[in-house]
Amino acid sequence: MNPPPSEHSHTPEKAPPMTRRNMFLFGAGAALNAIGVAMLAIPLVGFVFSSFFRKTISSDWITLGKIDDFPLEQTRLTIYRNPFTRPWDGETADIPCYVRHLPGDKFQIFAVNCTHLGCPVRWFEESELFMCPCHGGVYYSDGSRASGPPPRGLFKYRAKVENGLVQIKGGYLPTLSNPTEEDRT
Ligand code: FES
Repeated sequence: MNPPPSEHSHTPEKAPPMTRRNMFLFGAGAALNAIGVAMLAIPLVGFVFSSFFRKTISSDWITLGKIDDFPLEQTRLTIYRNPFTRPWDGETADIPCYVRHLPGDKFQIFAVNCTHLGCPVRWFEESELFMCPCHGGVYYSDGSRASGPPPRGLFKYRAKVENGLVQIKGGYLPTLSNPTEEDRT
């Protein structure tokens, strides 16, 4: 014999039938979720896989100008465009460097960053010195250290002349752990 139904027992309610309006709202919600996931996933996937399609750093010589653009035995501040940038990098992709024209159409190209803590150094034509405004570091015209806290001379980029054009190995920032051949000379 079945026990009598208690006062507090509930019979399960039936789910309301799916109306066309409910189906439309369900579909719209699912579509919005899918769009949201795609908007998050596409940049993420692009970031992860972009490194596979980047050019290698060793293949980029960038022209800074003609030999005559750099007067003999003088130092000029110039800018090159970092080859490893995206269109939205704007002016942050413009890298300044100092170019010194030596006899025999040889060139030295210096990184502008002080080797102490990285402040940009300035070239003073009159005294023929690079000076750092942050802590008074001073460098001679050949980039070697003259005085102050910098532990060494300015870093030098790789440079060459081809078909009358001065070229820099762009996208390669020399550092203490990653010096160029020019840094060892
Ligand atoms: S950063 Fe140039 S001397 Fe300190």
